[in-house]
Amino acid sequence: MTETDRPDSAGAPISPAAPPAPEGVPVPKRVRVHHLRQAKERGEALTMLTAYDAVTARIFDEAGIDILLVGDSIGDNMLGHPTTIPVTVDEMIPAVRAVARASRRALVVADLPFGSYEASPQQCLATAVRMLKEAGAHAVKFEGGAHLAEHVRLLTRSGIPVVGHLGFTPQAENLLGGKRVQARDNDAAEQLVADALALADAGAVAVVLEMVPAPVAERVTEVLPVPTIGIGAGPGCDGQVLVWTDMAGMTGWSPRFAQRFGEVGAELYRATRAYARAVRERAFPAPEHTYER
Ligand code: KIV
Repeated sequence: MTETDRPDSAGAPISPAAPPAPEGVPVPKRVRVHHLRQAKERGEALTMLTAYDAVTARIFDEAGIDILLVGDSIGDNMLGHPTTIPVTVDEMIPAVRAVARASRRALVVADLPFGSYEASPQQCLATAVRMLKEAGAHAVKFEGGAHLAEHVRLLTRSGIPVVGHLGFTPQAENLLGGKRVQARDNDAAEQLVADALALADAGAVAVVLEMVPAPVAERVTEVLPVPTIGIGAGPGCDGQVLVWTDMAGMTGWSPRFAQRFGEVGAELYRATRAYARAVRERAFPAPEHTYER
């Protein structure tokens, strides 16, 4: 979305680091699912980032990110799991709750973790209901194509917006043979287009395309009435998503498709070393950090 046409264009800064909003400044208007379709129609790029806690969610929300995804990538990015596969609903709920509480403008999307939705539309609905009712999400995302169209249909009929996820689907990495670019050949590309259309037809409000060749993502973007959000899918998608730790340079390694827009990890390391040195040298706490009585 453009800066001038954002739902929060009259909005106030909301980070605890920002100055308080002047009196009378309205609370930013929430990004809603109809804004996603409007953004596509107007050719405005949608911004999406993962968030897993209130501290970062507040910063990303204030910075104007349109969609905060509480991804099951919490597993390999925050919880120390090797992949997303071990993540449970009970691990997701507090993270979604924290992000929903901290955001005032962004649409908050909760991932449904592996094993919590595949068995039936009813299982999917029950998990999605928990994400909305117990955690405050505005929408859910799950991985898979046309075979999950009934799941999407039931949730949509029940008032729950669904974001699809196609291409490389990390929960299926054992079947896919690791993290690999998908839909490279014509048949697989056609299948991807058909899957995306089936999800949109069932009511999906957007579709994430992960690690697919740019021309394939462009084709899906052209034929789909709802936005595509790419990650490793080239510049032709309606929007882009990154895992925030990749975006901010928190890790030693980032995937080829992710640009490091900062070196937050290095800065955190520097601050930590400085703190430890100051404590060891008894330079901290100084008088100004000390209560006399
Ligand atoms: O869990 C996640 O972070 C995701 C993104 C990679 C889209 O699904």
